[in-house]
Amino acid sequence: MNTISASAPGKFVILGEHAVVYGKPAIAVAINRRFYITVRKDEDYKINNDVIDERSSPHIRYIADKNNLKPFSVQMESKIPTGSGLGSSAALSVAFSAAMRALNDLPIDRETIAKEAFEAEYFSQGRGSPMDTSVSTNGGGITLNSPDESNILWKITKNEHTWNISGMDVPQMTFVIGNTGVRAATGPLVERVRKYKDSNRFASDIVNEIGAITLEGMKALKANDVVGLGNLMTKNHKLLSILGVSSNELNKLVNASLPYSYGAKLTGAGGGGSMIALTDQPEKVSAAITSRGGIPFIVKTGVEGVKTTIKDE
Ligand code: PMV
Repeated sequence: MNTISASAPGKFVILGEHAVVYGKPAIAVAINRRFYITVRKDEDYKINNDVIDERSSPHIRYIADKNNLKPFSVQMESKIPTGSGLGSSAALSVAFSAAMRALNDLPIDRETIAKEAFEAEYFSQGRGSPMDTSVSTNGGGITLNSPDESNILWKITKNEHTWNISGMDVPQMTFVIGNTGVRAATGPLVERVRKYKDSNRFASDIVNEIGAITLEGMKALKANDVVGLGNLMTKNHKLLSILGVSSNELNKLVNASLPYSYGAKLTGAGGGGSMIALTDQPEKVSAAITSRGGIPFIVKTGVEGVKTTIKDE
C-alpha cells in the first residue's frame, strides 16, 4: 500500500492583507517553515494515530470528499506556529490536497491544488482570499491582482471577486518575522473588517488606500528599492491599525524594530500573530523583538512550494 508524504510552506505578506479579500492587490512570500503530513489508506479515519470523527476537521473532510478517498490515516507535524498569521492552515490544506492526488495516482497539478485548497479554506472559514493557499502551493513569491500579468500562474474567482495570481522574483532582501506568541484566529478578524467596511465609508477608503500602497510596493520591489518598500510597509501597518486588526503586542514589536529597519508591519490577519521588518540589521531587529517578548526568526526566501514523495510499503 502506498504511503504519501507531502509538505507545503507557510508565508508572510509584504503588503495588502485584508484588502486582498475584496479583490485588491497583495504581495506574499513563502517561508522556510513547512507543514508536513503523511497519508495512507486505512480501516478508520485517524489523525496522529487517534481515530477521529472526520467532521472535526473541515478542511480535511472537504478535500477527502472531493478526492473520493476514505478512510485514511494522517500524520501531521507543523513547523509553522498556528494562529500566527503565517498561513499554517493553508499549508495543511495544500499539503493534504497534494497527498490525496498522489494517493489517487493523479499528477501534482499546482493550479488544481491551489484551487482545491482555497475552496477547503473557504469552506472551513466561510471567507477569505486565495493568497495563502496560492503562495504555499507555488512557493517563492506571488502577487495578486498585479497589473503586470506577464508571469501569471492562475486565476481564481469566488462570488463577486476574481484574483489573478502571478509568480514574482523575490529580490535579495532580508526580512525578520516577530511572533507575538498571541494566537488569533483569522476568520473573526476578516469578519471584523468586513463589518466595519460595510457600515463605514471611511473603512472602504482605507481598504482602497491599502490597494494603492500595494501597487506602489510592486514597483519598489521591481526596482529593488528597499527604502521605498519599507516606507510603504510602515504606512500599511498604520492603515491596518485603523481597520482595528493590530494589537498592543504587535505595535510594541513594530515600534521596537523600526529604529533598525526600512519598515515594519503586522503580517497576516493580525489581532496577535506576527509582524515583519525589512532590514539590513537582522541581528539588531531580532534582539529588539526578543527584548519586547516576541520570538524572532530571520526569513529565507526562494522556498520551494508543495512537494510530495511516494513510498511503496
Ligand atoms: O493570518 P493568516 O495567515 O490566516 O492570513 C490571513 C490573510 C487575510 O488577508 C487577512 C485573509 C485572507 O484570506 O486573505
